[in-house]
Amino acid sequence: MTEKLVYGEVSSKTAMELEEKYGAHNYSPLPVVLAKGEGPFVWDPEGNRYYDFLSAYSAVNQGHSHPHIVNAMIEQAKIMTLTSRAFFNNKLGEFEKFITEFFDYEMVLAMNSGAEAVETAMKLARRWGYVKKGIPENEAVLVFCDGNFHGRTITIISVSTDPDCRTNFGPYTPGFVTVPYDDADALEKYLNENGKKVAAFFVEPIQGEAGVYVPADGYLKKCYDICKKHNVLFVADEIQSGIARTGKLLACDWDNVKPDILILGKALSGGAMPVSAVLSSKDIMLTIKPGEHGSTYGGNPLACAVATAALEVVRDEKLAERSQELGIYFRDELNKIKHPMLTKVRGKGLLNAIIIEPKDKKEAWDVCVMLKEKGLICKPTHRHIIRLAPPLVITKEQLDECIEIIKSVFDEL
Ligand SMILES: Cc1ncc(COP(=O)(O)O)c(C=O)c1O
Repeated sequence: MTEKLVYGEVSSKTAMELEEKYGAHNYSPLPVVLAKGEGPFVWDPEGNRYYDFLSAYSAVNQGHSHPHIVNAMIEQAKIMTLTSRAFFNNKLGEFEKFITEFFDYEMVLAMNSGAEAVETAMKLARRWGYVKKGIPENEAVLVFCDGNFHGRTITIISVSTDPDCRTNFGPYTPGFVTVPYDDADALEKYLNENGKKVAAFFVEPIQGEAGVYVPADGYLKKCYDICKKHNVLFVADEIQSGIARTGKLLACDWDNVKPDILILGKALSGGAMPVSAVLSSKDIMLTIKPGEHGSTYGGNPLACAVATAALEVVRDEKLAERSQELGIYFRDELNKIKHPMLTKVRGKGLLNAIIIEPKDKKEAWDVCVMLKEKGLICKPTHRHIIRLAPPLVITKEQLDECIEIIKSVFDEL
């Protein structure tokens, strides 16, 4: 018997078959098809409801289809969506003022995807290295961390230490080195020996894709101070950790560090469309001149309206405070689960992970499938780690329901 469809025109089975047949196999999705979203919930075509514990890799911090963001999108879409930067538009300047004041920076450069913003920051850092720091031509070095994830372009994967990201995609872009993550001494040692040619240090305040690795308190501040000593820019990739996800507006706020260059994406639009941004000082930003960098869609009026609304939601609904409060409660409850397969709980705010020790041929993937059967979807990263990151608008009562689902899965394992 075919199940009746509640949302859309194709069943889950057909949707999966179509993706398998016609789409590139560059992901391995959990076997669930999503057809509708609202707040912390998503539904499949057959009308089954799930709690979304991935939040589109933390792009949907404001919850699915937040009405304030959707309204801003519809209203702006009716007027104008894209102008290109060949002309001024009446939304970009307003947005630039809003976002720079929101994050306390002098200037912003708007892009679309996260990877594009990272590439922008790399170019900006290199440019600053040559024209301000005086690094000899073509010798600038950018320092990154082992285990980093900054996106998927050739240049970005050139500095990845993950074989899945890199293998058979060479030759790689030169000019990068990596140092161990959460090891300020390693950064200091490298800069003591090579600092004169280093333009910038790029860091994720929490390594999300690597498996929600939270560095020691004070790590970011130590790195920042070391960078200052060597006239090296401190660049924070807050594409996943930023915009209230970890219980502060930015994860760098935990260490009271203000990056020289701040990279944002994902939740900057609350999941409505790709919007990313690089924020910095005038001194750094104005090293890029007209014609030297850009993007057809970067800074389009639709993106400006959407991103402004998305940040208003973060501010007006106090999402950072919610994330902090609920995160502490969530980790406390997860730590109460005593099961040999659950070996560790870690995270900050509502960016958390549980580490799964395989048992009786059951792995993190199987745990995710069981959670899905009970109405909660999440995805393993690096096989044994399950990231748990619900939309920040989730209520305490809803979170309690999710904790019960997670507990009941471990009861059955
Ligand atoms: C820290 C970080 N930087 C960059 C990116 C890349 O963003 P996008 O997928 O929008 O290119 C991601 C995506 O997961 C990320 O987590």
